[in-house]
Amino acid sequence: MADLLAALVPWPEDGSRPDGPVAVDATDRLLLDEAAPLLADAGPGDVVVIGDRFGALTLGALTLGPSEVRTSTDTATAEAALQHHVREPLMAAVRGDRREVGVKDFEHLEPGLLDGARLVLLQLPPSLAELTEIAEAIARHAADDVVVLAGGRVKHMTRAMNDVLASSFGDVRATLARQKSRVLVATGVRPEARDAAPTLPARAVLRDAELLTAATPAGGTAPEHVDVVAHGGVFAGTSLDLGTRFLLTTADRWPAADRVRDAVDLGSGSGLLATVLALRYPDARVVGTDRSAAAVASTRATAAANGIGARVVALRGDAGEDLEPASVDLILLNPPFHDRAAVRTDAAHRMFRAAGRALRQGGELWCVFNTALHYRQALTRAVGPTVHIAQNPKFTVTRSRRR
Ligand SMILES: C[S@@+](CC[C@H](N)C(=O)[O-])C[C@H]1O[C@@H](n2cnc3c(N)ncnc32)[C@H](O)[C@@H]1O
Repeated sequence: MADLLAALVPWPEDGSRPDGPVAVDATDRLLLDEAAPLLADAGPGDVVVIGDRFGALTLGALTLGPSEVRTSTDTATAEAALQHHVREPLMAAVRGDRREVGVKDFEHLEPGLLDGARLVLLQLPPSLAELTEIAEAIARHAADDVVVLAGGRVKHMTRAMNDVLASSFGDVRATLARQKSRVLVATGVRPEARDAAPTLPARAVLRDAELLTAATPAGGTAPEHVDVVAHGGVFAGTSLDLGTRFLLTTADRWPAADRVRDAVDLGSGSGLLATVLALRYPDARVVGTDRSAAAVASTRATAAANGIGARVVALRGDAGEDLEPASVDLILLNPPFHDRAAVRTDAAHRMFRAAGRALRQGGELWCVFNTALHYRQALTRAVGPTVHIAQNPKFTVTRSRRR
């Protein structure tokens, strides 16, 4: 087991960057140690892993007992890491002298992931809404005697996480901390939670003036409302983010409809910008893309809730890298600023480069960001000439035109 964990890398990196991510953290190790006695007795359909970062929990669990593990990765990046690690020769080491071992990979909380599960290993998500959605899904679909082991870094854990788990499970206790990680153990599915209607995805009806104005097609009438659907953990939930709101105030300067055949909401979250694009440009093809499966499902659901589901294609991908080169006329971007708890801007820079590749000549990237980030030069390098369109005390909106 120690050899196996040592062989994992924080794919797509090789682990050599001193300040880069680690493939296996103290929470993975603690979860696997706590789970070891249960894994030893687990059958093929018993074990589910949720939120694995680079495959440590999934491969570790397989090594310790069951011949099959179901695993759910929200981000495209975590899934790519897992796929990298479930290849030979590592799988030969995991298999040992057993004939068959396998991983069933699910996007987010798809049907079938949790049916009849008896042990769930979970890296605690940063958002309570995401934890709520996961806990409710386990209570609805897992076996009555399911044991949930939910681990995290002590500094990121709050009492509210125990309370969320306690809404679905009768018994929630914490293990002793080790190397600044701790595991919450939840058992005894509450009978009322078994049959309860899921509280997520959340739905809301928005009437913000900026949203309705931006969603109005040239010469058309404004919609009375725009509806939003958000799975747990999706950025800003069902509300309109302040930066996104500021970007929407510039809509009267976005390209005219006759110049927009293909439009993209890059890092689409709940899909509000994709929906605005589809409503504002009724003849355009619109793509919303995000690395998170929960965001992709939300983008799809938000578009459907506004009656334009057929015109918005929602894709899961890392930083827009899979957008066709020179295929897009307009991209809207409110780039990520945090990756879990840490401030990170590398995804934003990768998104700028992807936008530069995806835009047709003369196509435009409209970007909103925290003014302190000074992205203008990076945007000019990645896309083309960039001008400041609007600024308020907090945010800047830029327009970059593809050379
Ligand atoms: C600031 S939010 C904006 C969401 C939405 N467009 C809005 O305006 O409300 C940034 C989004 O980028 C997504 N994201 C973060 N890193 C990403 C990556 N590497 N590739 C694709 N999307 C990413 C996040 O999941 C999040 O939904």
